[in-house]
Parts: sequence; C-alpha cells; structure tokens
Amino acid sequence: MRNRAGMKRVVLSGVGVEIPEASISNEELVGSFNVWVDRENAKRCLNGEALLQKSDSDFIVYASGVRNRHVLVRDGILDPERMTPRIAPRPNDQLSVMAEFGVASARKALADAGREAADVDLVICASSHQQRPYPAIAIEIQNALGTRGAAFDMNLGCSSAGAAIHIAYNLVRAGGHRRVLVVSPEIITGQLNFRDRQTHFIFGDASASVLVEAMEEGPKPKGAFEILASDTWTQFSNNIRTNFGFLVRAGQEDVSVVDMEGNMITQVGNKVFKEVTVAAHRFITDFLARQDLTPAQMRRFWLHQANARMNAMILKLSLGHEADHDRAPMVLDRLGNTAAAGAIIALEENRRDLSAGDYGLFCAFGAGYSIGAALLKKL
Ligand code: COA
Repeated sequence: MRNRAGMKRVVLSGVGVEIPEASISNEELVGSFNVWVDRENAKRCLNGEALLQKSDSDFIVYASGVRNRHVLVRDGILDPERMTPRIAPRPNDQLSVMAEFGVASARKALADAGREAADVDLVICASSHQQRPYPAIAIEIQNALGTRGAAFDMNLGCSSAGAAIHIAYNLVRAGGHRRVLVVSPEIITGQLNFRDRQTHFIFGDASASVLVEAMEEGPKPKGAFEILASDTWTQFSNNIRTNFGFLVRAGQEDVSVVDMEGNMITQVGNKVFKEVTVAAHRFITDFLARQDLTPAQMRRFWLHQANARMNAMILKLSLGHEADHDRAPMVLDRLGNTAAAGAIIALEENRRDLSAGDYGLFCAFGAGYSIGAALLKKL
C-alpha cells in the first residue's frame, strides 16, 4: 500500500467527540452580563468614568450565529460577582481536568476505529490552550489510555487540530508512526473574559479526537476516509491574542495574586472576520488546485466553527454561490466556537451519509493567524 514515491496511504479511521452536558443560552449569558454592567456602571457613575454598554442576544445571533454553548463547568460563569467557571484544582496524583476531557473523546475515537489504545504509537494533544507547560497533557493522556510510543502537546489556536492532522498524516505517510491519535480537549471558558462584551458570547467547551493510521493497518470502519493531502499556513497577527503565560507574574510588582486583567482572550473581531475570510478562501482554492481539484468538487466542507456569516462568505467566494448546511454543516449555533474541536465535531456528525469516493475538505482557521486542512476521500 505504498505509492510510487514509497509513501504509505493514510486513513482517518476514527472520530470521537465529548460534549459536556451543561449549557448556557445567549439569554442567560446576556442576562448575567447586563446585571454586572448595571452594578459596574453604578460605580462608574459615582467616579465620573465612561459607562459600559450592555450585551444583546439578537446581536449575538445576527453577528455570529451562536445561540447556545456547552460548558465543562457552569457553576460560577453566570454569577455576576465571579463570571468565571469554578473548576476545582486537583492533586498531582489525580488525572488533570484537561487530560480527563481529552481521554473521553479519545476513547470514542478509538472505539469508532475499532482499535485498542495499545495500537497507538503517538498522541498529539492539539489545543488552543494547554492546562500547563509540562509534563505534557498528551503524555498524561498517553498514560491514562495506555498507548505506546510517545506523546506531545502542540498549539496553533483554533487550527491546532488541523495542523496536528497535517503532522499525523505526514508521519504515518512516511512510516515514522503507525497510528497517531490527535486529541483536542478545549476548556476555553477557563480563559474567556465573561466581562468582555466583544468576546463573552463566542466560545464553548468540547473535546474531539481523531485517529490517523496507515491503510495497511487493516480493515476500516464505515465512517473512515483516506487522507489524500494536508497543509497548514500561518501569518502573524495580534488580532486574536491572549497574553497569559509564565512571565505574567514576573511582570507584576505585587506577585501575591496573578493579575488576569489584560491576560485573557482579546480579539478585534471585525478585522479577524475580514482577514481570515480572505485568507481561508485563498488557502482552500490554492490547496485544492494543487490536488487538481476545485471547491465545486467537494461534497462536503467541515469548516472551523467560529462564525456562521464568515463560513458562508468563505464558501460563497470559493464556490461562486451560496452553500447550504448539507454542503457545509454548522454546529456552532448550539455549541459556540469550540476552537480546535469545532471542525472535528462537524466531521463527526456529518460523515456517515457520504458515498465511497466523495471528496470532503476539513479546514480549520483562527488565531495566529493560522489555517490547517486535510483533503478527505470517503472509503
Ligand atoms: N452586544 C451588542 N452589541 C455588540 C456586542 C454585544 N455583545 N459586541 C459588539 N457589539 C457592537 C459593537 O460595539 C459595534 O457597535 P458600534 O457599531 O456602535 O461601534 C457593533 O456591535 C459591531 O461590532 P463589530 O465588532 O464590528 O461586530 P461584528 O459584526 O464584526 O461581529 C464578531 C463581531 C466577534 C461576532 C465577529 O467579528 C466575528 O465572529 N469575527 C471573527 C471571529 C473569529 O473567527 N475568531 C476566530 C477565533 S478562532
């Protein structure tokens, strides 16, 4: 099963998704935000400071398409005094929160592919945020699952899984690893500033995993795809940024409490919208052209789930006409932007109906700026 260049054929053989049960509607989120704004403005009035503006559910649906989001922990998010999830710290001898979330979707991806953990020889934990620098979350996932070989973390914003699939595909293709598990546990509510009107509504939590393996490794399940090509692209931009990191404390005079002000997610949404839309359209067209294909030949697009209007525009530019949700499924309306997990969730929920030989494009984009994509063909 090697092509003329001696490379192996590669398959995306399993997909697994874990959505937390708890959810928050736009109305609930906006309600708590606006109570906080009223309280804050009362103080600002007394101090003669500029007043904050309220958030609005109709704006959120119109501007982003998001109606609801699921969250790992709801407790604390809607409390106007806190507006941060209350996630209890765990002792070092317990599985960390992020690894546990990753393991949940990883087990489903293995079951979907009909594989055992011991069949895997590399785990990549590919997420927009990692719970700690080391030991790598991926190694903890490796340990909890019982996979062989090695594991490492990587980060490329919302394109993390797309870029990890690019790496996995090329490692398996070249024979460096037999089976690579890409795990994207996204607990983005932990880094989200629920007091920022521009971003408080955008994100939700989810964990998603895929298994990438060589075609020669045996029979493939019904929902499997051959990966025909992959690529990734980056271009520096400050328009989506978080400054939280290990130097934050060293930058403070008073080091008794870590100051999160200015160190959570910020974005210049309308610039991101315009610039990433154009970049993603160009990337998709060029990437497919290099495979002698056009967007029109894609039966399905599993795009990053950040903004419904943005995806509609990328598709219109790329196809020359509008695309419906059968062509480009949307999950962000009920889940929000689940960062690296989003496009995998779209894939998981919308793959079994394709016919053998159908082409599909997996394409994630986001902070960096960054893009990661894979061309899939249904087996
Ligand atoms: N409630 C009510 N009004 C709001 C609001 C809120 N929560 N947030 C912003 N607004 C207001 C703004 O203040 C602005 O008001 P003004 O015209 O009086 O100045 C107006 O709505 C438009 O703001 P803008 O930021 O231009 O909105 P937008 O149409 O670009 O939509 C986003 C905002 C964030 C939904 C959109 O830009 C987006 O999704 N961008 C891409 C994000 C993305 O892909 N990120 C990738 C992360 S991986």
